[in-house]
Order: sequence, then structure tokens, then C-alpha cells
Amino acid sequence: MTGREQWGSRFGFIMAAAGSAVGLGNIWRFPYTTGENGGGAFLLIYLAIILGFGLAVVIAEMLIGRAAQKNPVGAFRELGGKGWSAVGFMGVLTGFIITSFYVVVAGWCLAYIGFMASGKLATTDAATLQGTFEGFISASGAPLVYAAVFMALVVLVLSGGIGKGIERANKVLMPLLFVLLILLVLRAVTLPGAEAGLRFYLIPDWSQVNLGTFREAVAQAFFSISLGMGTMITYGSYLSLKENVPSSALTVVLLDSAVAILAGLMIIPAVFAAGLNPSAGPGLTFITLPAVFAAMPAGAFFGIVFFLLLSIAALTSAVSILEPMIAYFVDEHRINRRKVVFGVCAVCFALGVPASLSLGMMAGFKIFGLSWFDLMDTLANNFML
Ligand code: PFF
Repeated sequence: MTGREQWGSRFGFIMAAAGSAVGLGNIWRFPYTTGENGGGAFLLIYLAIILGFGLAVVIAEMLIGRAAQKNPVGAFRELGGKGWSAVGFMGVLTGFIITSFYVVVAGWCLAYIGFMASGKLATTDAATLQGTFEGFISASGAPLVYAAVFMALVVLVLSGGIGKGIERANKVLMPLLFVLLILLVLRAVTLPGAEAGLRFYLIPDWSQVNLGTFREAVAQAFFSISLGMGTMITYGSYLSLKENVPSSALTVVLLDSAVAILAGLMIIPAVFAAGLNPSAGPGLTFITLPAVFAAMPAGAFFGIVFFLLLSIAALTSAVSILEPMIAYFVDEHRINRRKVVFGVCAVCFALGVPASLSLGMMAGFKIFGLSWFDLMDTLANNFML
């Protein structure tokens, strides 16, 4: 194969793969899932699954890509025969669906940077914050504008290609993400009243554990390390054949777990310190946390940092969900990369429009009793992956 781009360095590859793994799953989903599933006990089960099971699948995906030097569809065809390419296809298709709602939530994160800066969220009253959040996401225009801005950033990174686009962006953004995260953890654990949260987060309460906890932990683990969508296959396909995969994979998985643990350390003690409830579900980030920031000294500053962190994490992950599709059209159909990037991103954005509107204007429109947003989520996470 001549002309196929490769990573410029091992560090670049690791940052890109870690950038994929570290996303909304770590910072938005992990803390509230831990909060709902008994704190420290969930954390231990999660780590056991990641290291005992997830790591092996990451290594397998990267090796498949490296061996075939192709996108997921081409890689499965080459290594398994024609019928297997359907598996790759399923991954590419899931990517379209996941991106459509990932981009909507990422748009909310961008919007909240501005809301934090403008003082719109400067209240500790949860009902007001809930009203702000629900009012915003159910509007027809603004959330779509933010989703479009986010999508434009994704296009910018992807159209630069592997080395000058994905690798370069991750080499800057991932270290920045770590710095911001550590800053926020230091702020959170030194708040008065944080110890109760630390105890809840770190001391296992086994009475909360049942079979559902394990299912939750497996789902969280697979989503968090970007499995099942061909992302790690595709990123592996830009490695040279002499690259050592297991050690890079281990680094990526450890970085991903570290960010998830730190995200819990930043959020849970702060929520306890403000006297709020850590099992508030998905609203934890957009309703509970603004109240926490409003209650802390220099809260607006830390709030801006937090939503910036979340946006960066979402950007590097969204890029990686799209890359398998881009690679598919470039490898298999020999279409110019830039054209593919624009086309694929336009389709994903178009799928995101009903996802966003289904939270407001189109709320009455249901398929199998689910809104479009929930339908896409259920289809992708519970079936296709
Ligand atoms: N791992 C990302 C997260 O934790 O948010 C989400 C993700 C990215 C899933 C890429 C799948 C994927 F292929």
C-alpha cells in the first residue's frame, strides 16, 4: 500500500487513541453512573472489567487494523472473507447514528461555556437551573446552531488528514485536557465538606451491587474505550507493522480510566460539598454542577474551565467516531478525503437535527414509543454495538 497516511509518532498515536477514548463517556456519563450504582463498589467492578476484558478487545481491534492497513469494512473482508465485511459495515453505520446525538450533546457543552461566562447560570437554585437547561435544549434554533459550530470544528480537524489533522489536534488538546482536569480536581477536593463525597466515592458499598451493576459497568467500559465502532481498527490501520500494539493499548486504557476516576473526583466531592445529590442522572452535569459552581468562590471561572474541558473531550472523540466512515469511503471508493469529510459530516448533522428537535418541537413524534433522540441512543447502544 503506498500513499496511505501513517501516524507521525508513537506519542501522536497514543494521544489520538486516548483522545477517542476520553470523551463525554468519562466526564459526563461515568460520574453519574457511579453515583447511581453505589460509588466505590462500582468503580472497582468497572476497573476489573476494563483491565480484565476491555484491554484485550482494544488490542484485538488495533491489531486487526494494523494487519490489514484498511478501514473496518476492508479489514474484515481481507482478514475474514467477504461475509465478515458486514461486521465492519455495522460499525460504520453505528458511527453515523452515535455521532448524530453525540454532536447535539457536545453543542450543549459549547453553549454552556458561554452561559457560564455571561452569568446566566449564577444561581444555586436547582429548579431555576433545570428550567434554563430544559428551556435551552427544547428550543428549535439555538441548540442546532451550537451543534453546527461543533460540527465545523470536527470538519476542520478531519480535513487536515491523519498527521496534520487528527494527530496534531490531539497532541495539543489532550495535554491541555489533563491540565484543566487536575486544576478542577484540586479545587473540588479542597472545598469544605468534600470529605463526605470522597468517602462515598472511594469506599465501596457492596450492598448496592447486583447483576444490573455489572451490566452497567460493561456498557460503560465498552463505550468509554471506544469499542465496537471500528475506531480502534481504523486508528490501528495508520500504524506501521512494526509498532508494538499491546503496550500502546495499555497506555490508552490506563489514561482513559485515569480520566474517568479523576472526573469522579472532581464532580462527586464538589456535589457533596454543595449539599446536593450525586445520583441526579444525566442532568448532573448541566443542572447540578452549575449550582455547585455558583456556590464556590470564583465559580464562574471554574465553570468555564469545566465546560471547555468537556467540549475538548467531546471534540477528539467525535473526530474518532467519524474517521472509520471517512476511511471507508477513501479506501473503498477512492473518493477525495476532503469531499468525504464534508459529505459524511453533513449527513451526520442532518441526522442530528431530528435528534435535537425531538427534545422540543417534535416531542410528540414517537417511533416505538421513543423520541428520535432516545430511539437513536437505544438502537446504537443496546443493539448495534
Ligand atoms: N469513548 C468515547 C467517550 O467515552 O465518550 C465515545 C466513543 C468514541 C465511543 C468513539 C465510540 C467511539 F468509536
